[in-house]
Amino acid sequence: MSHKHRDPVYPEGLTGVFDTHAHLYDERILADSGNVLERALKCGVDTVLVPADNEETSKKAVDFVREWDGYKGIDLYCSVGVHPHEASSYDDRTEQALIGLIAEREKHKIKAIGEIGLDYYYDLSPRDVQRDVFRRQLQIAYELDIPFILHEREATQDSLNILKEAKQKGMMLASPGVCHCCTCSAEIAKILIDMGFYIGFDGPLTFKNNKKTPGVLEICPWDRILVETDSPYLTPEPNRGMTNEPAFVTLVVEKIAQLKGADPQEVARITRENGMNLFRIK
Ligand code: NI
Repeated sequence: MSHKHRDPVYPEGLTGVFDTHAHLYDERILADSGNVLERALKCGVDTVLVPADNEETSKKAVDFVREWDGYKGIDLYCSVGVHPHEASSYDDRTEQALIGLIAEREKHKIKAIGEIGLDYYYDLSPRDVQRDVFRRQLQIAYELDIPFILHEREATQDSLNILKEAKQKGMMLASPGVCHCCTCSAEIAKILIDMGFYIGFDGPLTFKNNKKTPGVLEICPWDRILVETDSPYLTPEPNRGMTNEPAFVTLVVEKIAQLKGADPQEVARITRENGMNLFRIK
């Protein structure tokens, strides 16, 4: 039987690309960390933010940054927080652990809380628990003056309600965070942008059957666009089906350039600047 073999495409030629979302502590990447980071650098990706999804991966994200930051010149940052899938694991002790890490944010290069939010697609934690844990972490983000990474899937109305409630109480930063891997409609994205959010674009923007995300890109102002991989997931075309890694964020940059009729290096420059602004990196 013949077996169709494809080699991944590693586009080179860009510089100063910022992958704002890559789970580099994931087992599929961790064993090959040095090579993954070298391939990123070769493709011009020199800055990566490593997000967490529970207490354990918050520590793993911090550890990964401690171990690999500066490797061949790469600049690494991380976030800590509890994903809606993991909301059931959240208790007072978890909260204190997160607050303790954020208290040392300079040392650990922690730039955000996240991923936090609601996910009614998988419903891996009860919805009322998800909402409670989302609210608690939103409050921490506000009180500790740190942006957050929003994960929202099939829970748009409840997410908006909770965000609006925080805003009405005056408990939301002017630049609150990023709608990571935005799957909502252009109409909802517009509401988030008006609230000060950035919009994260990744692999799905490149998927041929995706009609929704290009519409979000169309209404998204240049100064709110972030690029991300969500490595090891959501691998962009033409590498779809393979393990995702930060080098492939350049495929998202190229897709944005193509859809917007812009120069890819200019897209790289702008999205980097946006990431620096949101995550307050000097
Ligand atoms: Ni993620």
